[in-house]
Amino acid sequence: MERETWSKRSYFIFAALGSAIGLGNLWRFPYLTYKYGGAAFLIAWMVGLVLIGLPWLIVEFGMGKYFQSSAPGVFEGIGKKWEWLGWWAVFCAFLIDTYYTVVMAWALRYVGASATMAWGSGEAGAKGASSFFFKNVLQLSSGPDKLGAPIGTLVLCLLIVWIFIFLIIYKGTKVIGPVSQYVMIIAWVSLVVLVLRGLTLPGAMKGLNYYLSPDFSQLGHLDLWFAAFSQIAFTLSLGMAGMYAYGSFIKKKGDVNNNAFITGFGNCATSFFAGFAVFSVVGFIMQSLSIPVGEVSTSSVGLAFVTWPVAISMLPGANSLFGIVFFSALFIVGLSSAYFLAYGGVISPLMDKFGWNREKTSLIFCIVSFLIGILFTTNGGLYWGPDILDRAVAFYGLLITGILALLVVGWVFPVSKLREYVNKTSDFKVGIWFDWMVKLVAPIGLTFVVLYGGFIPDIKASYGGYPRWASNFIWIVLIVTLILSFVLQSIKTKGVSVSSTKSEVKEK
Ligand code: PFF
Repeated sequence: MERETWSKRSYFIFAALGSAIGLGNLWRFPYLTYKYGGAAFLIAWMVGLVLIGLPWLIVEFGMGKYFQSSAPGVFEGIGKKWEWLGWWAVFCAFLIDTYYTVVMAWALRYVGASATMAWGSGEAGAKGASSFFFKNVLQLSSGPDKLGAPIGTLVLCLLIVWIFIFLIIYKGTKVIGPVSQYVMIIAWVSLVVLVLRGLTLPGAMKGLNYYLSPDFSQLGHLDLWFAAFSQIAFTLSLGMAGMYAYGSFIKKKGDVNNNAFITGFGNCATSFFAGFAVFSVVGFIMQSLSIPVGEVSTSSVGLAFVTWPVAISMLPGANSLFGIVFFSALFIVGLSSAYFLAYGGVISPLMDKFGWNREKTSLIFCIVSFLIGILFTTNGGLYWGPDILDRAVAFYGLLITGILALLVVGWVFPVSKLREYVNKTSDFKVGIWFDWMVKLVAPIGLTFVVLYGGFIPDIKASYGGYPRWASNFIWIVLIVTLILSFVLQSIKTKGVSVSSTKSEVKEK
């Protein structure tokens, strides 16, 4: 059967940008920049983009295109014994999607809350925003041992999220391409509105000063580099299987290198731009509440769901409108990342391996993910989903599978073959430097991140200050998904695996 393709190059670019631009750009990036001293973080993050992000993107797009397959098929194509590596990334993508969509459900809940300014207006709203989020919306329990029950409104919002995802993915790239184009245009227009509003607020300059004046001494701190490199992987949706599939839908004569550069730079430019909205709002809060920068935001989710509501309630007018614009933007950028994880990360791999039909696989996937997601709408859900599970799959899973994938592609495939292949059809050629980035620089850089930014601190003190039994869940998830990946590798399917079409691939 002919593999589906993006009918226009621009559809691929919008879909890839849509996958990269997500909650991470509006919430994780500004939060990390804020935490690590503003512009110093930006420098490390740009270095990460060039040394790690761009070469890695070319690897994922290029390998998907070469083998005409999603991640497991790509690694099976390199050698049957590597297939598990693709499946491990698929499991991580699947698990990320289960809680990423819950954060989108919160955003949807806040679109509604903004309409009535449910957390209050003016000073009262500023004071009440935090308790509204934790007590009313999440009804958060005191710790991970108290899971409680699902919160009805959040379950409903989550259901709506999954209906959206299903409707976009069940027809494949035909619908994903054009939808991504609209999603990105709406997202960018909303961002422009938010940035303009932010910049014209009193005190905005104070926040921007913090954002843009580098404290070079911070560059000496390893922490900052860990955060910057892991953010690059997360923001470009790398190490999560999906970009292989998106690359595999590129037409035979399609470009790889330039598309990777457009995706990488386009995504990072969007983050940088979003930073103006976030930091002008931070400056506005500093001025209105007469507090120093360090007291504005508390935690990562707090930036989107507490800091913004504080600012929204103190706006001089059109409060509801700006609340709706901000949270709709959050929802919509999340959507294109969530359907990417679903379709590129999980459904395409299943269709490639088992030859399953797209509609049914999509439906079952959405139902199962929704049901698992309900766990994270409970009183203790925040601890388990967007925190502990996120650490397991979006930090360790993403980086470990990424390091291994780069090493296998770099040394076993090997990368010189990939370079020659992508250069043949790309707008510009990448040089031999690319090989060394893939074989050495990126894997070494990322290994440092995992060791010093992850293992060592998480072993020394339990992750997130949680009791050991709860934080050990991180290792359990990683081990169980690894074992399941070998199980999937061992399943033999007739006629649909890459090995059976290898001769065809070789002819190209
Ligand atoms: N790139 C997305 C963001 O920045 O929000 C998050 C993400 C999506 C991470 C898909 C990983 C992934 F596979």
